[in-house]
Amino acid sequence: MRSLTFDTANAGVPAKELQRISQTLKPAITAMKAALSKGYDDDRASINLPSDKQMLKEVLSLAKKYKKVDTLVVIGIGGSNLGTIAVKDAILGKLSNEFGTKVYFADTVDPSNIGDILKLLKKNVLVNIVTKSGSTTETIANAEVFIKAIKKKKNIVVTTDEGSKLWYLASQLGIDTLPIPKKVGGRYSVFSAVGLFPLAILGVNVKRLLKGAEEMVKTCSQSDIRKNPAALSAAIQYYNSLHGKTIHDTFIFSTDFENMGKWYRQLEAESCGKERDLNGNVVHAGITPTASVGTVDLHSIAQLHLGGPKDKLTTFVTLERERGKVKIPKLKLGFTDLVAGIEGKTYKQVRDAIFSGVTEAYKKRKLPFMHVSLGDAHEDSVGQFLQFKMMEIMYLGHLLNVNPFNQPNVEEYKDVTRKILKK
Ligand code: PA5
Repeated sequence: MRSLTFDTANAGVPAKELQRISQTLKPAITAMKAALSKGYDDDRASINLPSDKQMLKEVLSLAKKYKKVDTLVVIGIGGSNLGTIAVKDAILGKLSNEFGTKVYFADTVDPSNIGDILKLLKKNVLVNIVTKSGSTTETIANAEVFIKAIKKKKNIVVTTDEGSKLWYLASQLGIDTLPIPKKVGGRYSVFSAVGLFPLAILGVNVKRLLKGAEEMVKTCSQSDIRKNPAALSAAIQYYNSLHGKTIHDTFIFSTDFENMGKWYRQLEAESCGKERDLNGNVVHAGITPTASVGTVDLHSIAQLHLGGPKDKLTTFVTLERERGKVKIPKLKLGFTDLVAGIEGKTYKQVRDAIFSGVTEAYKKRKLPFMHVSLGDAHEDSVGQFLQFKMMEIMYLGHLLNVNPFNQPNVEEYKDVTRKILKK
């Protein structure tokens, strides 16, 4: 089995500099290792989710109870649904609603979008309300709308913090509940009931997903950063950001992984974009994450990347294994005169050729990039990728000297909204 590989040969960081940054990372790696034995009592608590067999048992047993549903509505926003959407698309495909259990994601308060979802609800609907705080305006609004729409309390599952007001309310109403460990923040929660329950309902092999993640927890806790992709990637991003590359583009060559890019965008933005550092100084820290999809965005954003300001570091992501196989037929209709050499080739071969062309262009212009190639076991490799990226951001937070686990400015807007609505 081929596992995830990480190539940093073109990342633009001199070996001496990498060595220097790896010294700065030492305490963070030590803290990461220590967190492995602290269960859910550490800010890095999420790294212990993949090995929590009890939680998995609880999630799978509740998923079994609802195995007959034909439509799932996941209500939640930000860290409470982005990971689920990313994994759902990556494993089952963006078009999975056409083939299996349907899922709709009700996140924002958009009357047109939510109105359309309401029209699509059939008989056997399960509503999963996901909110760590239990008090996010959009989520509570959508919860009320969908509870009314399905008219029965028995087809609702609430995933929230055990002590939240919503937890007690759901328990009083006899609604099934799943807990989120206190120290696991929204954007680090994909391997908790937040992501696992809806994904299990949809038929994702969550055990394999967690297996991949568990392997990556070990890999990304290693002291030698050359063997630790999360620490290495954080060091490369940090160095590049200090040298004017303050934009980090995750350029994924897979249509089904578009939302993986969005999941990562939130993870990096919300974790590292901070007004103050850990000493309370105003620093306005952060690296701006962008997400691109190959090959589509080669016809959109690539001109800017290749010819525009040299302010970007790119992480290319490619897949070793695809869900589907498509081959270009030899029709003998003269198409071969339009693009020579494509007839008889698989789509993967054509896309690989385009990817090689792109990396050559980056090398020629000395544009720094890293390359993550996902392994050939699909669910395992998706689990590996998610875990690698979450640990990378924890290390990057350390290098930027910010707290990667809070989001004080987001809380600010949430509070003001609640005050306005109360009037
Ligand atoms: O990552 C985060 O912490 C945030 O994006 C939250 O997930 C988001 O604001 C939703 O919060 P909650 O789950 O409390 O409804």
